[in-house]
Amino acid sequence: MKILVTGGTGYIGSHTCCELLNSGFDVVIVDNLSNSKREVVNKIRIITKKNVTFYKCDVCDKYKLRKIFDREDIQAVIHFAGYKAVGESVKEPLMYYHNNLLSTISLLEVMKEFGCKKIVFSSSATVYGNPQKLPIKEDFPLHTTNPYGSTKLIIEGILKDLYNSDNDWSIAILRYFNPIGAHKSGLIGEDPNGIPNNLMPYIVKVANKQLDVLNVFGSDYKTRDGTGVRDYIHVVDLAKGHIKAIEKVIKDKGIDTYNLGTGRGYSVLELINTFVKVNKIDVPYKIVERRPGDIDMCYASTEKAKKILNWSAKLNIEDMCRDSYNFVVNSKKNKKSGGKHESL
Ligand code: WQD
Repeated sequence: MKILVTGGTGYIGSHTCCELLNSGFDVVIVDNLSNSKREVVNKIRIITKKNVTFYKCDVCDKYKLRKIFDREDIQAVIHFAGYKAVGESVKEPLMYYHNNLLSTISLLEVMKEFGCKKIVFSSSATVYGNPQKLPIKEDFPLHTTNPYGSTKLIIEGILKDLYNSDNDWSIAILRYFNPIGAHKSGLIGEDPNGIPNNLMPYIVKVANKQLDVLNVFGSDYKTRDGTGVRDYIHVVDLAKGHIKAIEKVIKDKGIDTYNLGTGRGYSVLELINTFVKVNKIDVPYKIVERRPGDIDMCYASTEKAKKILNWSAKLNIEDMCRDSYNFVVNSKKNKKSGGKHESL
């Protein structure tokens, strides 16, 4: 069974491609490489010892998408492709609305043309805004505070309207909490260009002496130690959640939304201290003012994913810290060519 993975050379996409191949699916990756590297394709092949088809293609390009659907017998889609930096979305809202919405609408239109009506969509816990109580359940009020989060919420609405117009669709919306960690091989992981927006990639760059010091954004939140609390989930657990979701959309029709988190929150200082302990390395940091828009605490109710998808996270915060650093330490040694890609 052939699955199309948009954004499949990205952080979560590449880990999901590995789990799909390990589960016996065939995988076709579509990625424009705007925020990832072609060499990831080869690393997926090395990790899984299986072949994967790769097309360098922008998901907004319906002409190319049609050629791919015409050539490949796509049974279902996992849609990761999209811009995802909160801060950048505030500065460039039109770029985010254009890219994230147009790519999704183009994809859904081509899927419909080819009678492919099974999709797993990569959403985010950011659609919950600042939750009034915890843990966060899927039926909680939704509220976004930045254009990136708004694109996710709008796409969730598009998918719900699409299903209401045609009950032949089968749709799973996955709301990720805070993905960190990397494949144990050290071959793939989170590798943002430039200054990272997110906490773990920043910690890793400070540990690796690529950056001098970590700024801890605020220590006056209503949390155990005053620093922000988040539900960090290992990216391999997250990828395995996608396997359960794609199996569900292949088997059933309908539309549903699932939190993918661990159900447990850790503070910034707790994550730093765990990282230092596990990797036996220093991470200099200093407390600075809050980052605008940040919330105090966020962690998932995991009941629904457990009950309906029969999925729960297995890896712990120590695994996440160990694997995050292992990727950086090893990634320099494992640079490979990206291998061939299909021409259209
Ligand atoms: C985590 C904690 C910061 C950086 C965002 C998006 C979300 C998802 C994950 C895409 C907070 C603190 C951070 C730093 C710090 N992305 N921090 N110093 O903001 O919870 O979620 O990324 O889907 O949609 O909203 O993640 O890693 O940026 O921050 O102190 O240099 O670390 O204040 O408490 P966040 P984050």
